[in-house]
Amino acid sequence: MKTIGVLTSGGDAPGMNAAVRAVVRTAIANGMTVKGIMRGYNGLIDGDIVDLTARSVSDTINRGGTMLYTARSPRFKEEEGIMEGVEACKREGIEGVVVIGGDGSFRGARDLSLHGIPCVGVPGTIDNDIACTDYTIGFDTAMNTAMDMVDKIRDTAQSHDRCSVVEVMGRHAGHLALQCGIAVGATAILVPEVEFSLDEIIEKIRITQKTGKQHFIIVVAEGVGGVEEMAKLIEGATGIETRATTLGHVQRGGNPTVRDRVRATQLGYAAVKLLQNGKGNRVVAIKNNTVVDYDIYEALNMEKSLDMSMYEIANVTSI
Ligand code: ADP
Ligand code: F6P
Repeated sequence: MKTIGVLTSGGDAPGMNAAVRAVVRTAIANGMTVKGIMRGYNGLIDGDIVDLTARSVSDTINRGGTMLYTARSPRFKEEEGIMEGVEACKREGIEGVVVIGGDGSFRGARDLSLHGIPCVGVPGTIDNDIACTDYTIGFDTAMNTAMDMVDKIRDTAQSHDRCSVVEVMGRHAGHLALQCGIAVGATAILVPEVEFSLDEIIEKIRITQKTGKQHFIIVVAEGVGGVEEMAKLIEGATGIETRATTLGHVQRGGNPTVRDRVRATQLGYAAVKLLQNGKGNRVVAIKNNTVVDYDIYEALNMEKSLDMSMYEIANVTSI
């Protein structure tokens, strides 16, 4: 393989730049040339493709966001869009593509592979919701950002003897909420994977208040939502002043942590090595602290559940 393409797709995640950098430099070190496909699959369809050198990725390892920009591309879900992408690859001499994104992006990579362009997926999303891997690029930074933000909210909740209901990202998955909730010592953590009863949470606030707890943090995943309403109900039932905060996209930005930069570098390197060895239609992943790879179909059919033992630990240690 002489020329490969690289793109970032779906929601941006801190560490994507480090992955792009690793892809570019590993490819160049192995005698290949690299093309950057801008704005995810949209750039492939529109032919928005640039040459990348080792210097193109200088000063990016420390930066959040993605220098290749990103997009959600409904056009690429249609056969016509995929065929335009295949044509663009042929025109540009792109023989393989590294796709950095979530499992939606991997579905696009699977389709491109099916049409004769070998692809390797690199897991990048703050949600950590990709089944084949223990870890996704951006998760560590997002967890730390969310924790820092809730720590700040705690200062004001503590000063006013208040309850704070905080929404963190994760439309379909509660991994971020669970880890963040444990790290901030939340009284309760609400995630889409586990049914909850607001009455039970109100009861827990009452019980812990009797034992001397004076302020309360409730962490709620985006997929559960309803934090404003929840705050009103908690205040009405307990008499404790309650405020709702939605952290939002602050969790997607910022300089990546050490862990995200290092994992992104390992995964980007591994993705290029697969293409170099003629292996496409694969996804690189981290399992038990080791870089592994899977067939894309196999990876997309795996299921990831919430770590219920951590959920139990959170409940026990938040009394
Ligand atoms: P993520 O990669 O973060 O899960 P999305 O689910 O939004 O984000 O997917 C990103 C992009 O991947 C989509 O906008 C689309 O271009 C492509 N994609 C998603 N699902 C499919 C699919 N079933 N077939 C082809 N391409 C897809
Ligand atoms: O997948 C990452 C993520 O931040 C989710 O946690 C969230 O539900 C979604 O993206 C938000 O996407 P948007 O960029 O459209 O606001």
